[in-house]
Amino acid sequence: MITHDIYKLHKEVNVYDYWIIGDDLQSCDKQVHWIYNNYSWYYILAMYFKPCKILELGVRFGYSLKSMILGSIASGTTKEKIYAYGIDNDCENLNCINIATNTLNKLEINFNLLNIDLKNIPSLNLQNFDMAHVDARHTPFETYQDLQLVKNCIKDGGIILIDDARYNNVLPGIKWFCLDNNLDYEFIESCQGIAIIKC
Ligand SMILES: C[S@@+](CC[C@H](N)C(=O)[O-])C[C@H]1O[C@@H](n2cnc3c(N)ncnc32)[C@H](O)[C@@H]1O
Repeated sequence: MITHDIYKLHKEVNVYDYWIIGDDLQSCDKQVHWIYNNYSWYYILAMYFKPCKILELGVRFGYSLKSMILGSIASGTTKEKIYAYGIDNDCENLNCINIATNTLNKLEINFNLLNIDLKNIPSLNLQNFDMAHVDARHTPFETYQDLQLVKNCIKDGGIILIDDARYNNVLPGIKWFCLDNNLDYEFIESCQGIAIIKC
């Protein structure tokens, strides 16, 4: 079980969501409940897996991407080695890709954030990613589709994380994907639940 070591690391490192997001927290998120017991897990997961190439579907303001980048750096990955690629179509928050770009600019790493509607792309021409985070479309079938999209971008032994894994709009898509690809998932008890799939 990977999760045993991840819970242990989370206890030892003791990081907080508000500390990770810092000044990048947008005013519309100042009162929301889910910025608590959420991003520290992404930070710790990246500390544990030490990804260099990180892919994210559903970037929003860049909080989870920032958390994974900082976690990887905290584990010793040098900034020059890190590359992040993120997709969002700004459908929930206007201008979010630009705001996320400002956030990532401050981290001094290489990245590409693109405004793309996932509905319109049959495949992603990307390879050799160490970690992918799926957090865009939230129905079972769309979760399944997004997982199939990132699967081809991940190297053997790479990691896929899925947010909102405790909910019935996402979990069936994860189970279906694992069944079709002969993979297993483990579950982290974050605020919304994070599933971990080792490819
Ligand atoms: C839950 S938010 C992502 C939150 C982000 N991962 C974080 O924790 O900081 C979901 C994001 O997915 C994006 N999204 C939803 N449907 C999409 C689609 N069809 N194509 C691209 N992005 C989409 C939304 O615009 C939204 O910003």
